Amino acid sequence: MDIIFIKRLITTSIGRKAVMAVSGLLLGGFMLVHLAENLLLFKGEPAYNTWVDLLISNPVTPFMEAGLLALFIGHIITGVWVRIEDFLNAPRGYEARRWQGGRTAGSATMLYTAAAILAYLAYHLLTFRFVDHSMGFYQMVTAAFRSPVFVAVYISGSLALALHLSHGMQSAFQTLGVNHPKYTPLIKAGGLAVAVTMTGFALISLYYLAGIDLKAAEAGYQVVVIK
Ligand code: HEM
Repeated sequence: MDIIFIKRLITTSIGRKAVMAVSGLLLGGFMLVHLAENLLLFKGEPAYNTWVDLLISNPVTPFMEAGLLALFIGHIITGVWVRIEDFLNAPRGYEARRWQGGRTAGSATMLYTAAAILAYLAYHLLTFRFVDHSMGFYQMVTAAFRSPVFVAVYISGSLALALHLSHGMQSAFQTLGVNHPKYTPLIKAGGLAVAVTMTGFALISLYYLAGIDLKAAEAGYQVVVIK
């Protein structure tokens, strides 16, 4: 990547949209991997703790985290920038016509769902990432999800994430010029499938709130009970 290319990514409208699209797709990929990791909660304490301990002790992880942070920052900055540009360049009466012309709930609420996801992420990192982990990751997560307030935040956040991705994934491909009569319906369906998958985060929290892990323990599965 030469310096002129990087300059174009920042100084041109199409460059900023490309950064927003690529960072959005990579963040969507991270969300799928993160969900898969957290589905290990269903396998119980040893499986989950072994995986997270392995992850945080990996010397590559700090670099991955720095990359992830750069993706979030790049996505937020270009997203806000593009939205302001679109607003300034929009013809009069555009706001009133937001729901016309094929707009969906996902596309019309992108800015609101983005703000909700940011708040959800901040809450998530403050309660799970930047805390003392000495009790063990599984115990920490399980204890948190026994609280109905915590679960309500996770359900709302996961739904906001699903709505955001229901438009974001297909829009990113469109921005990058992947537009073909044969593949566009597939891309739309794939984007929607990724979006719906995000409700998995809400399901994990409901699983613990409903005490299904405890019922599984009665049926003979290994489980940790936190008082
Ligand atoms: C059931 C829901 C979830 C659970 C149980 C969960 C669990 C965790 C845990 C235990 C960590 C800390 C790992 C560490 O200290 O290194 C973490 C980190 C993180 N989570 Fe989640 N998470 C969930 C949902 C989400 C969602 C919906 C998002 C995004 C909106 C998200 C984004 C992140 C990020 C960015 C990190 C920091 C990554 C890192 O430090 O490697 N998580 N999560």
